[in-house]
Amino acid sequence: MTQSEVKHVKKIDRCRICGSSRLEDFFDMGNLPLPNAFLTKEDVQKPEKRFPLVVCFCHDCTFVQLRYIVEPDQMFKHYLYIPSGSQIRIQNFNEIAFTAHRRFHLQSDSLVIDIGSNDGSLLSCFQTLGVQVLGVDPAENLKVAAELKGIPTLSEYFTQELAQDIVNTYKKAALVTTTNVFAHIEHLLDSMRAIYAILDEDGVFISQFPYLLDLLRDQLFDTIYHEHMSYYSLNPLLLLAERTGFKIFDIQHVPLDGGSIRVFWKKKESHKWKIEQETIDQFRAIEEREKLYTIDTYKDFGARVQRTKEELLQLLGELKQDGKRIVGYGAPAKGTILLNYFHIDKRLLDYVVDSTVYKQGLYFPGVHLEIFPESKIYEDRPEYLLILAWNFATEIIEKNKRYQAIGKFILPSPEIATV
Ligand code: TMP
Repeated sequence: MTQSEVKHVKKIDRCRICGSSRLEDFFDMGNLPLPNAFLTKEDVQKPEKRFPLVVCFCHDCTFVQLRYIVEPDQMFKHYLYIPSGSQIRIQNFNEIAFTAHRRFHLQSDSLVIDIGSNDGSLLSCFQTLGVQVLGVDPAENLKVAAELKGIPTLSEYFTQELAQDIVNTYKKAALVTTTNVFAHIEHLLDSMRAIYAILDEDGVFISQFPYLLDLLRDQLFDTIYHEHMSYYSLNPLLLLAERTGFKIFDIQHVPLDGGSIRVFWKKKESHKWKIEQETIDQFRAIEEREKLYTIDTYKDFGARVQRTKEELLQLLGELKQDGKRIVGYGAPAKGTILLNYFHIDKRLLDYVVDSTVYKQGLYFPGVHLEIFPESKIYEDRPEYLLILAWNFATEIIEKNKRYQAIGKFILPSPEIATV
């Protein structure tokens, strides 16, 4: 790392949930660029920052986490991740809002606070149901997008001070939500205590995030990146709840982003919501059966990823030798990881297409592949499309049915497949 890179990263030597120093590294991807640091044409000429990506396991509470933490401002101040690009994600947001509204008896004077509210997509669903909403997100560029939708948004990091300001200025929330944010929180105990502070006595906190069991089973290594500091299984979550005054009362498995869980939390003292103990016990039994609580399970992960790398590079290499053109489909953050870790650049892919207007005209960090609108594939008619946004493969293939008369899709995950 250069001096300027070292300045923005710190190595942790204690578990971020239980404080133990018994951490063991099991997967080292080397130094990679930040996955959402898409580049302008001018940026491509300049040196890029790269930071270490190393995952470790806590031998005391079994929490899986990043060994190196990059300074949040490097990652979140100008954030190019916008969720509304996918119908599946919007359906998921609608489902969260609709089911929570009914199950937790939200009223027109109930306040719902979404932390990491991005462009306000989830809160829009709640607003349609007639409740009060407030977003919190440090990305200044996204506040504008959210407010255009009529979602009041505080463009700040969610700290204990901000929690106090919210309680003083607004009121306590009947529901707090986070989607795909829980992995991004560095100071977990402080953040949970801040959530506790803004929640009504009988309020509910719903957090939805990718599930470690799915990541391991399907080798979703490209979902490991600097922003995702934490990879959750049940045991560390139960400990986190206990340490911060919460009780987890339900968990659901959600088929999103390769497999996520939606966790329901209430204050320990609240008796309003029934604890679904059988469901929680089932999760624990599956995790025990899959040996999530022992380091040996994690140790062969790197070797399995290496085999996938060789297989994919061989496939792409052979296609190129046959003179085929290959284009990437989707420019998600995980695409940066897959492309850079596997060294897939101009030699193998011509360019990438993505539906997000903000990303079009920009270049992938590290490998410098240019991003174009999706329509370009119908002008150029490449023979193969490598789906980098594999979590939306079904949606992408469905909406590009007519492409199947031109060429084939290659899926890199969970198994390499050509369809
Ligand atoms: P995400 O997995 O981080 O949400 O990113 C998905 C990316 O894929 C996002 O940049 C939008 C892009 N995308 C398309 O380009 N076309 C599509 O049809 C879908 C569903 C997503």
